[in-house]
Amino acid sequence: MTAFVNLFSPVRIGSMKAKNRLLMSAMSINFGVDDKGWVNEQLTEYFVARARGGVGMMLVGGGAVHPTGLELPQLPALWDDGCIPALEKMVAAVKPFDCCFGVQLMHGGRQSYHDKTVAPSPIPALAVVKSIPKELTIDGIHEMVNAFGDAARRCYQAGFDFIEIHGGHGYLINQFMAPNSNKRTDVYGGSFKNRIRFLLELFRDIKSKCGADFPVGVRINGKDYIENGWTLEEALKLSVILEKEGADYLHISAGIYGSKQLSIPSMYVEHGCFTHLAAAIKNEVSIPVVAVGRIKTPELADLIIKTGKADIIAMGRALLADPELPQKARTGNVTAIRPCIGCCLGCIHAVLAQEPGGCVVNPDVGREYLLKTDEPAAAVYNVLVTGAGPAGMAAARMAALRGHRVTVCEQNGQLGGALRLAAAVPGRSEINDVIKFLARELQRLNVEIRLNTPLSDTLIRTIDPDTVILATGSLPDMPMLKGLFKTKMDLCTVTDVLDQQSTVGDTVIVLGGNQTGLVLADYLSTRNKTVAVLHRKAHFAEEMSSNDRYYLRERLKQDNITLYKPVVIDTFLADGVQFHIGEESVTLKNFDTVVIADNMTPVREAANLLRNKDINIHIIGDAKSPRHLMYAMNEAEEIGRTL
Ligand SMILES: Cc1cc2nc3c(=O)[nH]c(=O)nc-3n(C[C@H](O)[C@H](O)[C@H](O)COP(=O)(O)O)c2cc1C
Ligand code: SF4
Repeated sequence: MTAFVNLFSPVRIGSMKAKNRLLMSAMSINFGVDDKGWVNEQLTEYFVARARGGVGMMLVGGGAVHPTGLELPQLPALWDDGCIPALEKMVAAVKPFDCCFGVQLMHGGRQSYHDKTVAPSPIPALAVVKSIPKELTIDGIHEMVNAFGDAARRCYQAGFDFIEIHGGHGYLINQFMAPNSNKRTDVYGGSFKNRIRFLLELFRDIKSKCGADFPVGVRINGKDYIENGWTLEEALKLSVILEKEGADYLHISAGIYGSKQLSIPSMYVEHGCFTHLAAAIKNEVSIPVVAVGRIKTPELADLIIKTGKADIIAMGRALLADPELPQKARTGNVTAIRPCIGCCLGCIHAVLAQEPGGCVVNPDVGREYLLKTDEPAAAVYNVLVTGAGPAGMAAARMAALRGHRVTVCEQNGQLGGALRLAAAVPGRSEINDVIKFLARELQRLNVEIRLNTPLSDTLIRTIDPDTVILATGSLPDMPMLKGLFKTKMDLCTVTDVLDQQSTVGDTVIVLGGNQTGLVLADYLSTRNKTVAVLHRKAHFAEEMSSNDRYYLRERLKQDNITLYKPVVIDTFLADGVQFHIGEESVTLKNFDTVVIADNMTPVREAANLLRNKDINIHIIGDAKSPRHLMYAMNEAEEIGRTL
């Protein structure tokens, strides 16, 4: 029986019919091309995995139509006919899976990562990319129009089913459309009609080169969320025009680099955050409208279609986290879906750092071509995992998937380790989804879990393991700072506070401005505490993704929170602290509590119990070296796979 009947009903897009209404949106994943920018096996297998997972439509993206528009170095280059054979091979590999396969055409304009950027006007991007773009001449604009048409023709020749034009997110087309980035005084600037001219010209060029029947959708912003940017009123007007021009679908996203609402929002933003924009457009047109933005569950996807807010649901990150989401949803196996947690760290943060994109909860992203077979282990071992944080649980899952007998022992009464505490602060409960997923998986795979059970000689004798995986995590490190141990303020750690082992007074000094310190400040502020965060480094929470940090920093703009950096502590006082920021000396007084939330130190005392025993030992996650979740998950699966 098919669950989510609205989502899994077929949909027609022009001459194309898709088996369901799930579209994997274009994601510039920054891997899988050779030195010419032509797609290779790595990208192909990444898409094959998702097509096999049952998605109805997917988009390669963003394919650069012109060298000046290459947003990131490792994106498909579509400006030369030489790209066609590799694209053909990719199309052929996806063909058996009944998935409509398209390409998103983009030109990054001023938001491209190189120093030869072009744009409608010489105004630099508002964030992320710093170079000043060259203003396009009229000839230059015509060259770009042609480039879009030619790139589309190459995709058509390679056998793709459809094309999407990227007219949103502050890239070149959007730069023409928005008044704040287009100051031209010729026929491509000024009035609404002039600002959309570039898009209409390239749309017509694509249709003329690929034929009117070849489906072409357009992704636009429902709104830029920026002063003097593209507005919903303009998007409504444009949608009607695009329908008349012959657009086969409209895909409604939002935001640009530096906008108030980001195009790729983090866990702080509500699910379905841009659906209202799609719904407004859907009222104006009769071609299919795609909604996108933090739609990660089949329940919400189905509801959006059922309530007529959109015809198609685009998912991006949810399909990075679990390529098989569609299949699992369709068969009602929703609890088996590996959830995206909206951290933005493995995917967009990596990509914007010009590294290959990945996923914190799914270490397989980009490695699909290396992992074509998941063979059972040659011999079955007794595996004991100590520590049921994310690393321990993920290692146990992978070991059990390979057929080993696995026991997990955890000294606390709950699963999740430090991740459980990371989810206990405002706006971050979505992190719990990954703990719940791993817990369900361990249950499904018959992994024995022993809570309130630290590693002991008795346990080792009882289980008699061949292998022990030590995933005992980390704890806050007590710093050696003058006066800290003599102060009359209460002293505790972030772990104590979030685990509710310690209470804090009304005025709190948080020592450390990494993610842990900042989310703690947020937590304390919502409990009406006055908080001073002292950070010794030049930047706050550098280990967070910039998208996620952006929303956290907005939350921290409260009267009862003060952030200080870079701080050199002189001494703690009976009720406060004295420190320097550069030349300036600062004294804070009348504080009740100091919470240590800075460096973490690995916990691996349990390893002593394993000495001189004939047992393989692997130390993973924070117990090996405290780092962020992606490393823990990666290491865990790697170990699980090699047992
Ligand atoms: C790594 C990454 C790269 C992206 N690259 C593109 C892109 O090339 N073109 C585009 O239109 N959107 C791009 N996006 C945005 C997604 O298509 C999507 O709109 C966004 O992630 C919100 O949807 P989601 O919440 O389902 O992930 C990218 C997103 C991610 C995570
Ligand atoms: S890295 Fe984080 S936001 Fe990105 S897909 Fe994975 S879980 Fe989702």
